[in-house]
Amino acid sequence: MTEQELRAFFEDLHRHPELGLEEHRTTEKIKQALAAAGVPMLDTGLETGVIAEIRGGRPGRVIGLRCDIDALPIQEETGLPYASCEPGKMHACGHDFHTACMLGAALLLWERRETLAGTVKIVFQPAEELAIDAGGKRVRLTGLLDDCAEFYGIHTYPQFEAGTIGIKAGPVMAAPDHFIMTIRGRGAHAAQPQKGVDPIPAMAALIMSLQTIVSRRVNPFANAVLTVAHVQAGSVYNVIPETALLEGTVRTLDPAVRQEIKTRLREMAEGTAAAYGCTLEYSYLDGPDAVINDAALCEAAKKVALDMGFRVDRQEDTMGGEDFSEYLKICPGVFIRIGTGGGYPAHHPRFRVDQNALWPAAGYFAALAAERAAER
Ligand code: NI
Repeated sequence: MTEQELRAFFEDLHRHPELGLEEHRTTEKIKQALAAAGVPMLDTGLETGVIAEIRGGRPGRVIGLRCDIDALPIQEETGLPYASCEPGKMHACGHDFHTACMLGAALLLWERRETLAGTVKIVFQPAEELAIDAGGKRVRLTGLLDDCAEFYGIHTYPQFEAGTIGIKAGPVMAAPDHFIMTIRGRGAHAAQPQKGVDPIPAMAALIMSLQTIVSRRVNPFANAVLTVAHVQAGSVYNVIPETALLEGTVRTLDPAVRQEIKTRLREMAEGTAAAYGCTLEYSYLDGPDAVINDAALCEAAKKVALDMGFRVDRQEDTMGGEDFSEYLKICPGVFIRIGTGGGYPAHHPRFRVDQNALWPAAGYFAALAAERAAER
């Protein structure tokens, strides 16, 4: 495959974004491109997503490469000639770039398979954007990756221009959890509050008290975010509603801090609802774990990048979430940021990537995987 062909593959994916677990066309396109070159694929048993496997001609270790293939429910506003043809759907997180990049890496590794020491498994993961029950876990549970010694993941990075790679040891993405609460009172006429149980003051009190969990309960040297992002109660000015809904997210890097917040959140919600004479329906949905990059492997990944002429910078800290952590339950690894410029952040309707970053990134992941597979 040439650079031009890889760009065309990327643009085609960009035109036809598919949401999590619906990536049938995308899956078909990946399979066609791999099959056309003769690259073997493993039978995942999953409806979408692909795992390619390249066995080298010499002995070595098994290295995993991972990209995600799903898009977002966003209406594209880039005005690009290859903008999304699907109303309300867009590759606004660069997963089309990830997919094309790892396809390129797979084809490059396939070309050099005779001299390759070890095996490289390339994961085209579905449904990364589904916060709960996302695709990484489904792929991990196939067991097809259990023999991997190291895993490397890719993400586009608008903060760096093409030619720069972001590598940072330690935590780079948070564990994004989701809580949903319904405070149940008893509806009444707004003029006769004594005849009902108003859930709105309970909700208001709870929103304010929740702010003290991070500020008063969590060690100031730890990192945590608790955001209430969605509230809903009532629909007219003169009726006390039956229920009030409150929904948000908890972001942490450390499992102990995560558990502490979980405990306090529930305690505070139940206590506050009861104090106002209300009952509580509560659910807390665990997202994927935090992504922790292995320090020694970061050095190795950095060295390959520098040797190939990339600039290497430290990525900015973020409390965003990513299910690349699923693969880090199997073995250590590094989540790597590829500078793609473009001027807009991920998930923005004008998000775009600089395609000049694509071909070099494919070469980089191929070189990194080949070098790590040969490592003893
Ligand atoms: Ni993403």
